[in-house]
Amino acid sequence: MSGVLLDVAGLHKRFGGLVAVKDIGFTIAPGEILGLIGPNGSGKSTVMKLIMGIEKPNAGVVRIAGQDVAGWPTHRIARAGVGIVFQHSRPLHRQTVLENIKLAMLPDSLLRLAAAPHVAERAREIAELVGLGQVLHRHPPTLPFADLRRMELAKAIARDPKVVLIDEPFAGLTAAEVQAFSALIAGFRAQGRAVLLVDHNVKGVVALVDRVLAMYLGEYVAEGSAADVMANETVRRVYLGGKIETHARPDLDRHAGAPLLDVRGVSVLYGKAQALQDVSLHVREQEFVSVVGLNGAGKTTLFNAICGLVPYGGEVAWDGAALRGQSTAMIARGGIVQCPETRELFGDMSVRENLELGGQRLAPSERRDQLDWLFALFPILLQRERQAARTLSGGEQQMLAIARALMMKPRLLILDEPTLGLAPVILEQLSKALAELRRTTKITVLLGEQNVTFALPHADRVYVLEHARIIWEGDPARFAEEAGAGYL
Ligand SMILES: Nc1ncnc2c1ncn2[C@@H]1O[C@H](COP(=O)(O)OP(=O)(O)OP(=O)(O)O)[C@@H](O)[C@H]1O
Ligand SMILES: [Mg+2]
Repeated sequence: MSGVLLDVAGLHKRFGGLVAVKDIGFTIAPGEILGLIGPNGSGKSTVMKLIMGIEKPNAGVVRIAGQDVAGWPTHRIARAGVGIVFQHSRPLHRQTVLENIKLAMLPDSLLRLAAAPHVAERAREIAELVGLGQVLHRHPPTLPFADLRRMELAKAIARDPKVVLIDEPFAGLTAAEVQAFSALIAGFRAQGRAVLLVDHNVKGVVALVDRVLAMYLGEYVAEGSAADVMANETVRRVYLGGKIETHARPDLDRHAGAPLLDVRGVSVLYGKAQALQDVSLHVREQEFVSVVGLNGAGKTTLFNAICGLVPYGGEVAWDGAALRGQSTAMIARGGIVQCPETRELFGDMSVRENLELGGQRLAPSERRDQLDWLFALFPILLQRERQAARTLSGGEQQMLAIARALMMKPRLLILDEPTLGLAPVILEQLSKALAELRRTTKITVLLGEQNVTFALPHADRVYVLEHARIIWEGDPARFAEEAGAGYL
């Protein structure tokens, strides 16, 4: 095959006063992968939604194998040969993996589903292809994160699309999983599909794509080989940013005093599955402690136990008193605030309303100051102040979740995977903000991350959580040689 499978030209999209996509154009040939990069909110997901017909373009053409489909309804665009992997997984929870894939194959007539044995067979084949062969009959809520993402890949290619749009496939995956997913996506190329790939994992993107297009504020910045685009001055400034530096830590005696948070022998069972086993850790006032662990290691369960969201054995003490029996709201009022991995934003409320909810217990002047400080920290949130949280880009939602937690002026801030979906330049900003926060306040931080390049530079101490247990504890400087192998 030759020529062009996907041809986009003059694509334009406005949301009210905001131009989210401005005169964007590119082509992708069969067997080619184009990477689309740009900071959070630059319009990448919107470009995909416009191609897929989920949003209607204000102007522009979208040709699939020569046919202009711009403005068509999504199901017709799907039939014309386009599949999409969304930034966030949305499986049907009551259907099995196999049923989810089967349904994705039949957007036109559900009635024919039962009657077509080849459908089941093909669904099985696809499941095998993406590595879900062992979990065909499980339900999505019981699957590990990477398998949920695999299922989205499977659904996207279920109807054998010529063009595949993949939005942030690597977010939340471990280095090994990123490799496995890259191999799958390279497989799409080998099958002659045209692939459009968005992700903030620069290494993952560069290793995989044939070309890269960079956007900023809805506009074209650069296009070319990955090496050329990454070397582009504007791309470096607005997207890549600088290296995350090790920050000077407040001068405190880290071995003195009683711990502020003391987790002693905590165990959690989900049914028969042991999510945490005899976990002990402590955090002293003003310390910054990182818990490093891969997906499913138990980080979120640990944080949820501390916050009173799951029942546990063992003990959690806060400022010397046991927390058991206190509601999550009481625990939060006591100063422990979690920014959860799932964000838990109020989607229909505006950015400002979400933040004000976080600050409702502050005095009005204090609330204003805190809001000003957070808007200075995340300027995009000020620009999106009146926008419904639901319509924010992935990274903007993450920033809002972090800002809302900070709005509560926590004594202990628990950050669960804050780096998920953030552009490199924003990670650098967040990193500086945390350093600044420590310099200017008495905040204590407990951070859960699998991204060790973010987790280590700030940490006074590090714990490694693996398969429900703490397997290493120590100084970040010793991490690389003693514990790092699987994480670096
Ligand atoms: N329905 C909507 N109404 C108003 N604004 C919107 C809507 N959808 C998206 N936007 C805005 O358009 C801009 C582009 O959003 P988009 O989701 O395309 O960004 P993105 O490049 O995918 O970012 P990220 O990397 O954070 O996912 C964002 O600033 C977002 O807030
Ligand atoms: Mg996006």
